[in-house]
This record gives sequence, C-alpha cells and structure tokens, in this order.
Amino acid sequence: MTDQPGSPAGPSFERDVRPMFREKDRNSMLKAFDLWSREDVQAHQDAILGKLRAGTMPCDGAWPPERVAIFQRWVAAGSLP
Ligand code: HEM
Repeated sequence: MTDQPGSPAGPSFERDVRPMFREKDRNSMLKAFDLWSREDVQAHQDAILGKLRAGTMPCDGAWPPERVAIFQRWVAAGSLP
C-alpha cells in the first residue's frame, strides 16, 4: 500500500485527484460542475464515478483502471481536500 496515492489517510483532492482532470475536461463539464473544485466534485462524485467506471467519460477516451481506482479510493476515504 505504500506506493498508493494519499496513504495513509487516503487520496487528496489537490494532490491526487484534481491533476487527473485536464483543462479540456474542466471546460467541457463547466455547465454541470467544476472538475477543479473539490466541493463540486464531491457533490457529484457518484455520477462522476459512475461515468468513469462505465468508461463513458471523458468523452474522448476512458481512464485506465488504476486512475479510476484512485478516484474511487478518494470517495471511499471521505473526499479529503
Ligand atoms: C474526467 C473527465 C470527465 C468527467 C469526470 C465527466 C463527467 C460527466 C458526468 C458525471 C456527466 C453527467 C452530468 C449530469 O448528469 O449532469 C457528464 C456529461 C457529459 N459530458 Fe462529461 N466528463 C468528463 C469529460 C468530458 C469531456 C472531455 C467531454 C468532451 C466533449 C465531455 C462531454 C460531456 C457531455 C456532452 C455530457 C452530456 C451528455 C452525457 O451525459 O453523455 N465530458 N460528464
């Protein structure tokens, strides 16, 4: 577990999660939420996780499973800043 982002408390939004969202992702989704805002991402985390797991977002290519797992751990650990 030592090489997993965010250990021991869990992944951090600023350090681990936000950098995974490109400027293109943010701009494409601003009408619905701001992917660079922890509050917004937390408020929509279930929908976001659903799309990431289904591979339907981002619109131009699914994330690799390791990346989805980081987002999932961030949610499971309490959406830390
Ligand atoms: C990691 C990056 C992204 C995440 C997590 C994400 C997440 C989401 C989520 C959760 C929704 C549903 C919103 C709702 O129900 O209110 C959605 C919708 C949408 N997203 Fe994204 N998105 C990402 C990147 C992109 C990109 C790069 C595009 C490019 C054009 C895009 C285009 C759209 C469009 C057109 C919709 C509305 C239609 C639909 O639900 O399929 N998104 N996205």
